[in-house]
This record gives sequence, C-alpha cells and structure tokens, in this order.
Amino acid sequence: MNAFASAPGKVILFGEHAVVYNRPALAVPVTQVHADVEVLDSPRAGIFINAPGIDLHAELNSLPSDHPIASVVLKLFQRFEISQRPDLEINISSTIPVASGLGSGAAISVALIRSLSSFLSQPLSDNEVNSLAFEIEKLHHGTPSGIDNTVITYNKPVYFIKGQPIETFKVGKPFTIVIGDTGVSALTKESVGDVRRLWLRDTANFENCFNEIAQIALIARRSIEHGKPELLGELMDHNHSILQNLTVSSPELDKLVKAARNAGALGAKLSGGGRGGNMIALAEQDKAESVADALISAGAKRTIITEIS
Ligand code: MEV
Repeated sequence: MNAFASAPGKVILFGEHAVVYNRPALAVPVTQVHADVEVLDSPRAGIFINAPGIDLHAELNSLPSDHPIASVVLKLFQRFEISQRPDLEINISSTIPVASGLGSGAAISVALIRSLSSFLSQPLSDNEVNSLAFEIEKLHHGTPSGIDNTVITYNKPVYFIKGQPIETFKVGKPFTIVIGDTGVSALTKESVGDVRRLWLRDTANFENCFNEIAQIALIARRSIEHGKPELLGELMDHNHSILQNLTVSSPELDKLVKAARNAGALGAKLSGGGRGGNMIALAEQDKAESVADALISAGAKRTIITEIS
C-alpha cells in the first residue's frame, strides 16, 4: 500500500510580523514549489524517514521526539491512538528552499500529515490538518501566527487574522509577482523573537507600525478584490519601509527591492520573517522577466514568477 500528498509553498503579500500581534495579513500559495511526501509499506521493521534534500535517513526511534519531522509522525500516532506502529518508509522531497520565508516547514508538515493519515485510512478534514500543522509550527517557531500552515493547508489566497476563522478573498484581476531569493537563510523564530523584544521596549512605536501595516493589508485586500492590483505597488513600498523600521530587512533584501523597482516593478518588499530569505515585486506581466533578470544581476540566487489569480 502507499499514499502520497503534496503541499505548495507560500508568500506573504502584506502584513508579516504585524500578524503575530493580531493584525490582518494577506498570503497566497506558490504552487511552482512544493513539498511531496510518499508513505509506503516497508519490508523492514521500523519507520524509516528518507529526506535526501536535508540528508536525513533515519529510523523514527533514533530521532529526538521534538525533531521537526519525527514530531509530526508522533503527533499523528497520538491523535489516532496508534500503539502498534506499522512498518513504513516515508519519502520526503521538497523544492521549497529552507529558511527562506516560503513556508517549507509548514508545507512538509501538511504533506506529511495528509499522506500518513491517508495511509492509515484515517482521513482528516482541512481544519484538522491545519490545527495539527499549527501545533507543529508552535513546537518549532516560538510564537507563530498560524498564517503559514493556513495558506498552505487551504491552498488559497487568505486574509488572515490570528485566532479567527479563515477568510479567503477573490482576485478581481490576475496579477504577477516576481519572487527573489537572497540565498541568505534566516530563521523566522529569530526575527519574530527580536521584534518581540523591541516591541516590549518600545511598545507605542511598534503598535503604531503594526496599525499602519494593518491599514495597508486592508487596502490591499480591497484593491485585489476590486480588480485594481496596480495599486499594490505603492502599498508594497510602504509596507517594506515599515518592515525596515521593525529591523527585519537586511542589506541583501534592500538591494533586491531596489533592483526590482529600478527594473520597472510597480513596488517591492521583503516577504516572510525577513533578515534574509525572499522578497516579492509586483510587475506588469510583460516586465516580469526583466525584473527577474535584474534580481539575478543584483545577487538573487533564484527567482520565481507567479501569477496570482
Ligand atoms: C512568517 O512567514 C510570517 C511572520 O509573520 C511570522 C508568523 O506570522 O508566524 C514573520
């Protein structure tokens, strides 16, 4: 017997960091990159996890119980009250760059939860998948908002407010985003932790920044729904400058953001936890390739052009 599941990457269009403080954020799936998990019966005794991309070849019992992948498997066995573990091979591969703001950890969790639950003939609703993936995010990312696991589980654009029922939104007119990877890996947990320390020291100022970001997210949602995506460029520029104030940009991100604007993008900003990872730029469809080329010339390790529809 075998089971397979795949989950997309994601980008945050607006609202990262502020979303941890209950402000709204907009995120969309990125299907050009994905995490894939296959679960098979094994002829050998044990549960073998193979993730060649991160050089992981191990039996479940040899991994610490808080290991990001082992913890998903253990949590599911617990959820299904499985005491007699089956013999399994779990093969994991992913094209989502790690620690880059594209949701690689959440995508592996979602694909693993879906493939293993289907292998065990215990199908889960999207809601259940999402809450299990959120529990795993909390184990590994400190105080996550839950936006990554939500957009990846539902594979739809989301307007997300922590703790509230998920809201998707309509895209009135498709638009093109160019994603540029600085190649610098940065842990979201660290930038989120730093913002928390600064927020504690300078609460009024940080709350103002979060309120401004909330306004931007709200206007952005309306612009997208009303088929006016060209208005997002200026909003991206504004959101990026607030993220700079929150100290989560980096010289590499700023360089790519500037290069995108110089190449004709309508606006650009970092996306995700920041300090490294990815940035996004809004480009007219016929300019997307030249924006992507400019990003590579400015040092991007790779680019993805994606249409949001
Ligand atoms: C990470 O993709 C986005 C952050 O807002 C953290 C979170 O929401 O958990 C930086």
